[in-house]
Amino acid sequence: MSSLVELIAAKRDGRELTPADIQRLVRAYTGGELADYQMSAFLMAAFLRGMSDAETVALTEAMLRSGTVVDLSSVEGVKVDKHSTGGVGDKCSISLVPIVAACGVPVPMVSGRGLGHTGGTLDKLEAIPGFHVDLDIPRFAQIVRDVGGCMIGQTAEIAPADKRMYALRDVTATVESVPLIVASILSKKLAEGIDALVLDVKVGQGAFMKSLDDARRLATALVRVGTRAGKRVTALLTRMDAPLGRTIGNALETREAIDMLFGRAPDDYVECTKALAVEMLRLGGRAASGPQAEKLIDEAISSGRAAQVMERMVAAQGGDPRVVRDTSLLPQAPEVVTLRAPQAGWIQGINAFEIGICAGLLGAGRTRADQAVDPAVGIVLQAQVGDRVQAGAPIAQVHARRSADVAGLQERMVAAFRIGPSAPEARPLVIERIEA
Ligand code: URA
Repeated sequence: MSSLVELIAAKRDGRELTPADIQRLVRAYTGGELADYQMSAFLMAAFLRGMSDAETVALTEAMLRSGTVVDLSSVEGVKVDKHSTGGVGDKCSISLVPIVAACGVPVPMVSGRGLGHTGGTLDKLEAIPGFHVDLDIPRFAQIVRDVGGCMIGQTAEIAPADKRMYALRDVTATVESVPLIVASILSKKLAEGIDALVLDVKVGQGAFMKSLDDARRLATALVRVGTRAGKRVTALLTRMDAPLGRTIGNALETREAIDMLFGRAPDDYVECTKALAVEMLRLGGRAASGPQAEKLIDEAISSGRAAQVMERMVAAQGGDPRVVRDTSLLPQAPEVVTLRAPQAGWIQGINAFEIGICAGLLGAGRTRADQAVDPAVGIVLQAQVGDRVQAGAPIAQVHARRSADVAGLQERMVAAFRIGPSAPEARPLVIERIEA
């Protein structure tokens, strides 16, 4: 049998490891036999040499088995979750869970926090007074069973190897590797006890994957490996050049997500959420076709059932359920400053990356995992791509803790709006659907 160092050397030299080799490496790491610097060397070797699908499946399974797989056998039906690779203004999960659960598909969701220019679902949910995302696994399973959906953060039991390996990747320049990303995402998602998964792989300047080719490569690898791991998986490639919807910032985004449950949200955000919900209902066996799924989704919203599920989920997770009918109970920033168009013309683009960074600098995001976020601050877009504006017309509202916070960012935020002499070409939000 090869030593652990020989396994690292084999990967360094571009040889394919067996599933048993990969399992040994991950076990040795979580058991303390393989040091951080050795795992870092392995990760760099995998980054540079790549990994076959068989190796990626083995890595996913080894990381998954480093912790608990939630037992949701007591929950009836096909359990379906969604994962987004992250964007600016992406609050789809918060409306998807109650909508899909109201259509009869249980949704156990383990989400993340914001980092860098992108926001995180957990930070947005915690803007709801009292809402807890740190529930233990038995309570999580119980809420999925009783309410139909529950949204928590990664617990110590869920894929602990991923948590430690991701921390190493973050500081060893090994994050941007398709097989490592695939194993990281899927190990956490498969640990939720799901049967099926819908992936929203964002593409564009506000996304992790900037080019369509890279996004397609990641999405196809996620679908392929997830399918080999025995799950039903589809992916949508969706555009993330401009922020999604009109709000960026925790409480502001939660308010917009709740608005969607009452049928009053911006078109692009509704389109993205519905496209993902359609996929979830199809994988969950509730709808045989897109139009049938859309009908169920529209009924869940118009009947008020989606909003009721949200109220029940918020209450079950310790939050104030009155927020669902009265979003003014969400935290509000003391200062609201209006930004105005510097010239007349068409809004040809809104740079999502820049807007995300500015929202972060206002306090809505973090640059280090241990920083706190300010739930109240953020940006509300008052003009969207394709709108025609006059010089001096309002284009955004900045919600800030202090007006001085806005003064330093105003120019940068206005510059994120590209205003030109002609209407931009309309481009579809959902670019491609990828299935096994
Ligand atoms: N998100 C994850 O969960 N893991 C990665 O490796 C990259 C993005």
